Amino acid sequence: MKFTTAAMILASLVSPTSAFRIANLGSTTARSAATAAYRRRAASTFLPNSSAAIAASSSSLQSTYAHPRRQLTMAPLTLRGGCSALFSSTTTAEESTTETTSSSGPKEIFRSDYTALPFKVSNVSMNFDIRDGETFIESELTIVQNTGEGDLVLDGEADALTLLSISLDGKDLVEGVDYSIDGDTLTIVSSLLPTTADGTSVLKTKVKVHPEKNTQLSGLYKSGSMYCTQCEAMGFRRITYYPDRPDNMAIFDSVRIEADKEAYPVLLGNGNKLEGGDVEGDRHYAVWEDPYPKPSYLFCIVAGKLGSVSSSYTTVPSGRKVHLEVYSEPENVSKLGHALESLKKSMKWDEDTFGLEYDLDVYNVVAVNDFNMGAMENKGLNVFNTAYCLADPKSATDLDYERIESVIGHEYFHNWTGNRVTCRDWFQLTLKEGLTVYRDQEFSGDMMQSHAVKRIEDVSSLRGRQFAEDAGPMSHPVRPDSYISMDNFYTATVYSKGAEVVRMYRTLLGKDGFRKGMDLYFERHDGNAVTCDDFLSAMGDANGVDISQFSRWYQTNGTPTVKYSSKYDEESKTYYLTLTQESNSDEPLLIPISVGLLDKASGEEVVATKVLELKEKEQTFEFDGLNGDVLPSMLRGFSAPVKLVQAEADASEEEDLAFLAARDTDGFNRWEAGQKLYTSLIFQTLEGNQDESKTLDYVEEAFGRALNMDGNDYSIQAYALTLPSESTLAEEMTVVDPVALHKARGDVRESLAQKYLSEIRAKYDELTETMESSGSGEDIKLDATSIGQRRLRNVLLGYLCCIKDTAEERDAASELAMKQFESSYGMTDRYSALNCLASMDGEESVVARRDAALQKFYDDANGDALVLNKWFMCQAVADLPDVLDRVKALVKHPDFTLTNPNRCSSLISAFTMNAAHFHAEDGEGYNFLGDMTAQVDKLNPQLSSRMGRGLIQWRKYSEERGALMKEALQELADMKPISSDLFEVVSSSLKE
Ligand code: BES
Ligand code: ZN
Repeated sequence: MKFTTAAMILASLVSPTSAFRIANLGSTTARSAATAAYRRRAASTFLPNSSAAIAASSSSLQSTYAHPRRQLTMAPLTLRGGCSALFSSTTTAEESTTETTSSSGPKEIFRSDYTALPFKVSNVSMNFDIRDGETFIESELTIVQNTGEGDLVLDGEADALTLLSISLDGKDLVEGVDYSIDGDTLTIVSSLLPTTADGTSVLKTKVKVHPEKNTQLSGLYKSGSMYCTQCEAMGFRRITYYPDRPDNMAIFDSVRIEADKEAYPVLLGNGNKLEGGDVEGDRHYAVWEDPYPKPSYLFCIVAGKLGSVSSSYTTVPSGRKVHLEVYSEPENVSKLGHALESLKKSMKWDEDTFGLEYDLDVYNVVAVNDFNMGAMENKGLNVFNTAYCLADPKSATDLDYERIESVIGHEYFHNWTGNRVTCRDWFQLTLKEGLTVYRDQEFSGDMMQSHAVKRIEDVSSLRGRQFAEDAGPMSHPVRPDSYISMDNFYTATVYSKGAEVVRMYRTLLGKDGFRKGMDLYFERHDGNAVTCDDFLSAMGDANGVDISQFSRWYQTNGTPTVKYSSKYDEESKTYYLTLTQESNSDEPLLIPISVGLLDKASGEEVVATKVLELKEKEQTFEFDGLNGDVLPSMLRGFSAPVKLVQAEADASEEEDLAFLAARDTDGFNRWEAGQKLYTSLIFQTLEGNQDESKTLDYVEEAFGRALNMDGNDYSIQAYALTLPSESTLAEEMTVVDPVALHKARGDVRESLAQKYLSEIRAKYDELTETMESSGSGEDIKLDATSIGQRRLRNVLLGYLCCIKDTAEERDAASELAMKQFESSYGMTDRYSALNCLASMDGEESVVARRDAALQKFYDDANGDALVLNKWFMCQAVADLPDVLDRVKALVKHPDFTLTNPNRCSSLISAFTMNAAHFHAEDGEGYNFLGDMTAQVDKLNPQLSSRMGRGLIQWRKYSEERGALMKEALQELADMKPISSDLFEVVSSSLKE
């Protein structure tokens, strides 16, 4: 299905909710490995992969998604500096990670060590003097007493800041006497600071930074012709000296930005604009004020020559008229409309759903080309990766449109869940991210008018990535207990599993109960930096229930397993359902299990969805008054992030799945039953033991039924016809052979295509006709039905194009794909066709069509960066024997660059997700990734460490593959100099 194909790859490159590489540990092994890792405090991480959101839609490639993430070392490092620090490694990975000599090097930080600040900043005024090649930043901090004892410690990254002056209450401070700088901290002795609760001091600093040289894209940097900032999590310390932690919430009274008027006509900051005007020498300035207290990670300024679209929104019930404006480089202004509309929808949705209104007079969004993440929720001034903001029908797929809407929603929803109420410390990250992902998922489900479709997509992503993370060496609870580098802490677990944790509150407390909990949470904590425990208390207290048991979800890593067994007693007409749970928690978790019962004889639902509260290790639930035996539909809507298994192998298991695939009233579970049948057939094919089983019959029956489904639920139909992705399949395997897995899945796919060829073709033609008659040309509709039709037709095209054993078949397949490519105006259909064509090989006519389509696509792109990303990506994920050589040639293409994270990921990271080729037995894929990672490390350590993560899962593969991956890792570890970010990743994976 498209969402697990190339689309996910790029979504994965950008988003923490994105794809991860395959996990191949069996559940038992995985759990024990995870437990061991956890005991060693192996907090792991992943990157908010940002780089490129290119929603491709290859229906031919159901790739394994190698989503590089980071893994922390187990012991404190000696490295100095944050991600910027480049250092020469003179020791081996092993030695370096165990040294603890430096006082300023990154240390393992523990949640239990949290202490409040003795002094904090209450108010801030800043001045940015932007000059060519250097920017001067003055800040004036009002310092007040907070709690406890100690000096005032300010963060400031030594590699980024040059301190020009520092004074306290008008008096210049003397280094070594009044203050000291040690590595990345500046300490001012407490004796100089306020001694009473209501006393204040004013600290003034002036620093110089070099945005033009900042290729890391953290702090103040230049993207194309514009200046912008990225401060989460620790970028503000690359802008000025400050207590750069989320519990210091301060009011930014005045942020003045001054720059050349012609080159940077637009000057933006957080909050509302106070004034602006000309300054001598062709310069101008603007002053911004943010009345809400905020932590430094939400700070932002932008300066550039920008175009924009604007509108307004009047909040309900307050009636505040908010000016909305979305900016980009002038040439992209025509692509900003969708983001602007999505913003209005988000504002309305949050009012309708949670009673939450926007609180400033302005909401600005800026699309930036060079951005490490997907998007950032800076107060009143969101910054977006262009890939998540720009769209028009010719350049964006349906998935791009959907993704933009959900990311705009996500960042907007942070205004309450994140900004008004933020995290006390970074261990609580899931408090804002898990909750906000849950909110954006619900928003998208409402906008798509199908929560089943949305749930299928989200659960697929959770299983393909987060389960793998939780089963691997990086496993950690949604609220980790320790970390070394904050950059390494934005994981699928914190985000996606965190969203599942929030969803479980909703399932347990019901819609109204959840809303009451949210209301109380805001009532109690507005304007504060709080913890996950505070959220749990609000949920419990608002509903008058003790849900303290639920807190175990915050401290338990690994995916729990729920086993079920059942029996029907004819005499008492009672059905007994016994559930047991296993997890890494010593005490049982509180797990909501949504269940419905279907009568075995009639197929009718006799018990509608009920939420069972599994609180014990083992519990039996009784359902009485049943007139015949029933079949349970378990874990409806995926009511908890667990693995569900039948306690005893049951001869009728597949028959039951076939029954549920046909009859379940729960849309998600119908899909789920089909997926389980497909999985079983693919594994039998992989093991070569398919002959005796009836699985093929069940699969064909389910597939045939899905093909002939009535109605207009096209997306559900498309997903029902789609086999599980290689990453989801791999998650259930002990050792993964990506080449064999790719082949087995491909064989099942082809045999289904062959068996149903005429019906698939008929359906494809029927849809083509329907789509043509309901509008064509430039009229690309974005309603659920139109999107669903395209989704279904492209899944069918994928099946039709996988039949290519003979010259005739290849010719027919390529002709069909070419026809769709040529006749489509919108990117969704064009790109699907291109992806099919890109994997075609053989006769001259076939190759000629492929090359012509690629050339045409490139020419039509006409330099559009996001379309070119798609062009690079579809070639990187192509299923061709010489794909690596092609990728290597593309590295030399004039449009390729390592400095833009989107472009780099579109080719390099996308290739690592082309699992069967990246994992080619000769190890050339690993060497290539190693080389590219080494090059990128000189430019952007966040990006290089993300790329390096493509190698760290070597334990999941055969000994031979593992050894080759390790070799490539060792080469990186030995590289001098190496960034601390990448070093941390590679060395941690080389540790025993
Ligand atoms: N606050 C994050 C952005 C961020 C992520 C900053 C990682 C620093 C490190 C933002 O709200 C976010 O979560 N963005 C996601 C996309 C979102 C839709 C899940 C991202 O950038 O991947
Ligand atoms: Zn977020």
